[in-house]
Amino acid sequence: MALPLTTDQPDRAVAPSERTIARNFLLARMGSFLAFFPLGIWTANHLWNQLAAFSGARTWEESVTAHANPATAALTFTVVMVPLVWHVGWGLFRLGKTRSSTVRNVSNLRYWLQRASAIGLLAFLGAHLWLAWIEPRFVVGRPEPFSDIAREMHHHTPTLIVYVLGILAIAYHLANGVWSFATMGWGIAVSKSAQAWFERLALLVFFVLLAIGWASIYALYRAGA
Ligand code: HEM
Repeated sequence: MALPLTTDQPDRAVAPSERTIARNFLLARMGSFLAFFPLGIWTANHLWNQLAAFSGARTWEESVTAHANPATAALTFTVVMVPLVWHVGWGLFRLGKTRSSTVRNVSNLRYWLQRASAIGLLAFLGAHLWLAWIEPRFVVGRPEPFSDIAREMHHHTPTLIVYVLGILAIAYHLANGVWSFATMGWGIAVSKSAQAWFERLALLVFFVLLAIGWASIYALYRAGA
């Protein structure tokens, strides 16, 4: 029997328990889809833009904080914040359902690391959004200047540590997310060999994001001397 995918006019012929299953199915798919697109893609691009720190203040500010017009700023905000809030809500709900297991294997370790990186990311994002975005833009009234973030990176050790660990957390969380999106989330990789390929892809995504993020931190650190 086909399950209804809407709850505004429920099909009374379908039992309430089955309607709940359909709604939960859709919410879970949306949670993992929005995390991947646009959030994951935007984050990879955001990290890539940070590499402009190697070319100096002007290039970095043009590629990270300058928006062509208010409409692009509003669009970025919508494309990033709405999926982020959705994903955090969905992720916290799933964190609450975490099950402990006595089995010691790689899958179980990954299950725990995904949750640990989520908690680390939440802390990082809280600090990052306040310091790099909300305070400079909405309290001070101008975007974060290159000289400020570079100086903090060089002279304020807690900032450096938070960024180094934040990048580690996002690289792991996104890379493992690519794997679970393709396997458990959307069933794109079903066979054992397809899953093994996605494992390799996830490993590649992890190292590439880590290299881009840590290289950017190094560039900011060097510029802040
Ligand atoms: C080297 C590391 C990073 C640096 C230097 C950096 C820098 C910045 C700066 C300067 C802004 C303000 C942009 C503006 O005012 O337009 C910003 C915004 C933001 N960053 Fe980062 N970031 C880094 C890593 C990350 C990571 C790992 C995430 C994780 C998802 C992240 C998520 C965000 C979000 C959600 C925003 C606000 C959205 C927006 O710009 O509209 N950032 N970042």
